[in-house]
Amino acid sequence: ARREQPADDVISRLAVEHWGADRLSRDEVVALATMVLLAGHETTSNTVALSLLALLRHPDQLAWLAEDPSEARVAVAVEELLRYTTAAQFFPRRVAVADVEVGGVRIRAGEGVLVLLGPANRDEDVFPDPDTLDLTRNSRRHLAFGYGVHQCLGHALARVELQEVVGAVARRLPALRLATEVGELDFKDDGFVYGIRALPVTW
Ligand code: HEM
Repeated sequence: ARREQPADDVISRLAVEHWGADRLSRDEVVALATMVLLAGHETTSNTVALSLLALLRHPDQLAWLAEDPSEARVAVAVEELLRYTTAAQFFPRRVAVADVEVGGVRIRAGEGVLVLLGPANRDEDVFPDPDTLDLTRNSRRHLAFGYGVHQCLGHALARVELQEVVGAVARRLPALRLATEVGELDFKDDGFVYGIRALPVTW
């Protein structure tokens, strides 16, 4: 559709400028467009929704942020929200290139490993009392963006986007509240990215 009716967006540019005889194939354009939508948009928009829900369910935490919505405080809070929400529930797949021991388990070179990011972000040896949302804790070691050579390419952009949203809510809408019961929310738990289909709010 974008190839036939281009708009001012990245998928139109992929379809019009980059799809061609000596350029990208249709399959490559589709793969890139899917990557931009899933990796860039699904992850960020669901992390925004899950983070707002976490703040609305913990009014004391939102109040702490609203007390001083400085860039420094918002940046620390966003790291904890990334840890607590971990929207990217897919599991990076890796192959061990050398024998390695992790948590007392020996993994031999050539064996496959599925890395579960959600449980890793609730590891109580790293984050004491991990099920508690504590915006003051230093969560920067979380794995919400993965780790290593394939760590999320968009993490800097995602952090800026989250800091903008969370900062704006703390400054301008500190009285924001849920307009429905948590039990009524429709959670997305059937895909690579965890999230909520809609988050009705009021103020
Ligand atoms: C809160 C938002 C986001 C989360 C939670 C997230 C999470 C992740 C995770 C867990 C991975 C896999 C890392 C691994 O395999 O070890 C990943 C990879 C990737 N992400 Fe993100 N991401 C977010 C936003 C974005 C944005 C905004 C973009 C681009 C505009 C993006 C582009 C990518 C790309 C291209 C990869 C593949 C990197 C590679 O395989 O080398 N992500 N992301």
